[in-house]
Amino acid sequence: MSDTYTRLSRSIAGHRALVTGAASGMGRATAHLFAAEGAKVALTDLDQGACEQVAAEIADAGHSGKALPRALDVTDGDAIARTVPQMAEELGGLDILVNNAGFSLPAQLDDDAYPDAWDASIAGMLTAHSRTIRAALPFLRQSEHPRIVNIASTEGLGASPSNSPYVAAKHGVIGLTRGLAVDLGREGITVNCICPGPIHTGITAGISDEHKEIFAKRRVPLRRYGHPEEVAHMTLSLVLPAANYITGTAIPVDGGLTIKNA
Ligand code: NAI
Repeated sequence: MSDTYTRLSRSIAGHRALVTGAASGMGRATAHLFAAEGAKVALTDLDQGACEQVAAEIADAGHSGKALPRALDVTDGDAIARTVPQMAEELGGLDILVNNAGFSLPAQLDDDAYPDAWDASIAGMLTAHSRTIRAALPFLRQSEHPRIVNIASTEGLGASPSNSPYVAAKHGVIGLTRGLAVDLGREGITVNCICPGPIHTGITAGISDEHKEIFAKRRVPLRRYGHPEEVAHMTLSLVLPAANYITGTAIPVDGGLTIKNA
């Protein structure tokens, strides 16, 4: 029967989502896209004003969903334990958690700044994820379509020079994703991660256009940097009700970067 193949929903209208690092780049694009799809989005980042700015953009865009802006520093464990449940209550529950917040602190092992870069990278891009997931879990357990998406990186699959704290954190995100996919699978909670390649966002804003172009032409089969929305669409695909049977994956959205040998 043909309707056998159309019974899984491709809509997140009315679903309740929390996105970290949503004031810029991929987090912002994800918040916009979720709201455009009719979701209610808790939009969090370091700065309350910046969150409100994105929430205002979403309201101005006339999307059917809505945005709830709130400052949340993901390196602050107490703030996570307090704010994630608060926002879930305000949204009336939680179906989707997107761990997106991140930053780049390049350092070589013998740099004076290395120990701090290490601590900050692991705290902000790995420990933070485990904490937000722990705080969100009681609410995700009440959801019909519970979804966790962690934003890792192609630096979670390989490594660039002078970047080992970030590389270690992002490899850790893939490990955390796989471990929790196994543990939470029996409850129907899916846990996936996305490995973006080079994307035009705040993190890469300091790289000149010329260097971006040289890099992309040499390393990326699609020969360009990606756009935040192109990653957000993968995130959306992974949180659909129809994505029921996808868990524990690490999906590159990288223009082909990771498959190119020469
Ligand atoms: P972005 O700089 O545009 O956005 C990152 C957001 O995270 C910012 O709004 C920032 O304020 C927020 N943030 C930083 N520290 C935070 C903290 N302690 N608490 C809460 N929010 C915090 O950069 P982008 O690229 O959109 O970053 C999103 C994710 O994508 C990060 O996890 C990053 O590592 C990852 N990524 C980025 C790539 C790129 O080429 N842009 C490639 C691969 C992964």
